[in-house]
Amino acid sequence: MKKIRKAVFPVAGLGSRFLPATKAQPKEMLPIVDKPLIQYAVEEAVAAGITEMIFITGRNKRAIEDHFDKAYELEVELEAAGKAALLEFVRNVIPKNITCIYIRQSAPLGLGHAVLCARPVVGDEPFAVLLADDFMDVDAGQTPVLAQMTAVFEREGASLLAVQEVPRADTKQYGIVSVTPYRANLEQVDSIVEKPAPENAPSTLAVVGRYVLTNRIFDYLEGLGKGAGGEIQLTDGIAALMQAERVLAYRYTGTRYDCGSKLGYLKATVAMGRKHPETGPEFSKYLLQIK
Ligand code: G1P
Repeated sequence: MKKIRKAVFPVAGLGSRFLPATKAQPKEMLPIVDKPLIQYAVEEAVAAGITEMIFITGRNKRAIEDHFDKAYELEVELEAAGKAALLEFVRNVIPKNITCIYIRQSAPLGLGHAVLCARPVVGDEPFAVLLADDFMDVDAGQTPVLAQMTAVFEREGASLLAVQEVPRADTKQYGIVSVTPYRANLEQVDSIVEKPAPENAPSTLAVVGRYVLTNRIFDYLEGLGKGAGGEIQLTDGIAALMQAERVLAYRYTGTRYDCGSKLGYLKATVAMGRKHPETGPEFSKYLLQIK
């Protein structure tokens, strides 16, 4: 089975749930402690052995390109000031062997359309999709979520979706799957539907923002019309792909924070603030003190 070498990051969304913070900056640049969400997602892809990062961007997303580029003025200033540690942070945002490719999605037509924009660069390989606002944390020493998934892909050779149980009241925020048991933490997807109302949801097993897909998905995305919310949905492409190929649902090990929502973002900030080597001990103490 082919190795996964390429990852697609759809980052053209407006981030309206974080206005006014996202009026002039992309939501993917919001930091968790000191690192933007998109950098955590890229690091997760790097940890899975991926070397080509494909960003599907839109207007107002220049900051993402700048973040992964060289920052000459900043480097010169930090060097002159002798701030070696900070200089290293700035220089090592991305490892040297990684290529970043930016594709503009000219209109926000939906996640399925964003992924389809990557087709000319992905070519005929399987690939990963990461939604940066689903922030995935694992305990120290544990394999990051995408690397768990690429290992499963290499064994099974089938597309797979990261899934978790959600409260029934929340099904309308997710792609929801119905499944047949297959192996530990791995099920076969029998159906998938985008954002069903709680009373119509086939289960409470929700897709979260990590996918490993065979490139046949592009054939199905190509022909898709508008789905839920009037958008071209990746979920509908996967539903079509399932008719031709096995698709698996993977119950990952780790904690997901929905950083597309204020509450999830705050929870992630607290969790990472407690773990951060600089802030951890004092911040944990502070949390115990506050009423
Ligand atoms: C997208 C997908 C949805 C998935 C979700 C995970 O929705 O369309 O199927 O469950 O991401 O976060 P969005 O959050 O962009 O509305």
